[in-house]
Amino acid sequence: MADKVEKDEFSGTDTTGHEWDGIKELDTPMPRWWLWTMYGTIIWAIGYWIVMPAWPLVSSYTSGFLGYSSRGSLEQELADATAAHADDRAALVTMKVSDVKNDEKIYQFALRGGKSAFAVNCSQCHGSGAQGAPGFPNLNDDDWLWGGSIDKIYETVKYGIRSDNDETRIGNMPAFLTDELLTKDQINDVAEYVLSLSGGEGDAAMITRGKAVFMENCVSCHGDNAKGKNEFGAPNLTDAIWFYGKEKDIIVKTISRGRGNVMPAWVDRLDDVTIRQLALYVHSLGGGE
Ligand code: HEC
Ligand code: HEC
Repeated sequence: MADKVEKDEFSGTDTTGHEWDGIKELDTPMPRWWLWTMYGTIIWAIGYWIVMPAWPLVSSYTSGFLGYSSRGSLEQELADATAAHADDRAALVTMKVSDVKNDEKIYQFALRGGKSAFAVNCSQCHGSGAQGAPGFPNLNDDDWLWGGSIDKIYETVKYGIRSDNDETRIGNMPAFLTDELLTKDQINDVAEYVLSLSGGEGDAAMITRGKAVFMENCVSCHGDNAKGKNEFGAPNLTDAIWFYGKEKDIIVKTISRGRGNVMPAWVDRLDDVTIRQLALYVHSLGGGE
C-alpha cells in the first residue's frame, strides 16, 4: 500500500493512493447529477422542516408555518361534507320522521347516513347485518318487541330500552321462580304450553295445566293470544322467532329468573339527524310495519 496520490495513466483520474498487488484504486468523482440531486434533497428537507410539522419536542412537536395536520384536514373535509348536505340535514330534522319516505331525495340521503351510522354504533350488539344474537334482537324480521313503525323505532333508538334515560322504554319479564310467584312444576308446565304455541309437540296434560298458568300470569303482558304486546316489550310467543332461544331449558330459565336486556339511549350521544337516519335505515331493513 502506498499513500502517494497519482494520476491513473489510462483514465486520467486521480487514484486514492491505495494499491493492492499492483491494482490501484481510482478516486472517481461522484456524477454531477447525483450531487445536485443530493443537495436538492437537503434543501427540500430544510424547507419541509420549516413549513410542515417535523421534529418531536418534549410534549408536542414543531408544527411548521403552514400549521398542517392530517387530523385538521380530516376535520375540514368532514365539515365540508356536512355543509354540502346542510339542506338535506335541515329538511330531515324539520319533517315528521314518518313523512320522510315521501321525499325520495331526503329518504335516500337518510338511508345512506343510517347505514354508516349503524355500522359504527349498532353493529357490535345487533351484528353487522342487523341479524342480532341471543338477547340482541334481529332487526331484519317483522317481529318487534317495541313496535316496528318508523315512529316507534325512532323512539326506541332515541331513548333506549331500560336505559338510564328518563324517557326510556321499560317493561321486564318477571322472575317467576326467584320471586316465588310460581313453583318449578308450574313453570315446567307453562314452558311446555309456550312451546306448543309455535307448533311444538308436548305432553297434553302439561299443556292443559300450563295454559291455565299462562292465562293467569302471562296474558297481561304477552296478550290473550300470546302474540305479545309492544307497550311492554313482550315478545310474540307464537312464532318461530325466539329472542333468547327455542330450547325448553332456555324458556324455563327465562320464566324462572326473568329477563330484561339494556339497549342504550342514543339521544345523548348522537345528533337528531343521525338518530332519524338510523330509524329510517332500521325500518327499511325489511320488517318495518
Ligand atoms: C349495547 C348493545 C346495544 C347497542 C350498541 C345497540 N343496541 Fe339496539 N338493542 C339492544 C338490546 C339488548 C335490545 C333489546 C332490548 C329488549 O330486551 O327489549 C335492543 C333493541 C333494539 C331495537 C328494538 C327492536 C324491537 O324488536 O323492538 C331497535 C330498533 C334497536 N335496538 C336499534 C338499535 C340501533 C339503531 C342501534 C345503534 C344506534 C342500537 N340498537 C345499538 C342492544 C344494543
Ligand atoms: C310484566 C310483563 C310480563 C309478564 C307478566 C310476563 N312476561 Fe314474558 N316477557 C316479558 C318481556 C318484557 C319479555 C322480553 C324480555 C327482554 O326484552 O329481555 C318477555 C320474554 C319472555 C320470553 C322469551 C321469549 C323469547 O323469544 O326468547 C318467554 C318465553 C316469556 N316471556 C314467557 C312468559 C311466561 C310463560 C309468562 C307467564 C308465566 C310471562 N312471560 C309473563 C314480559 C312479561
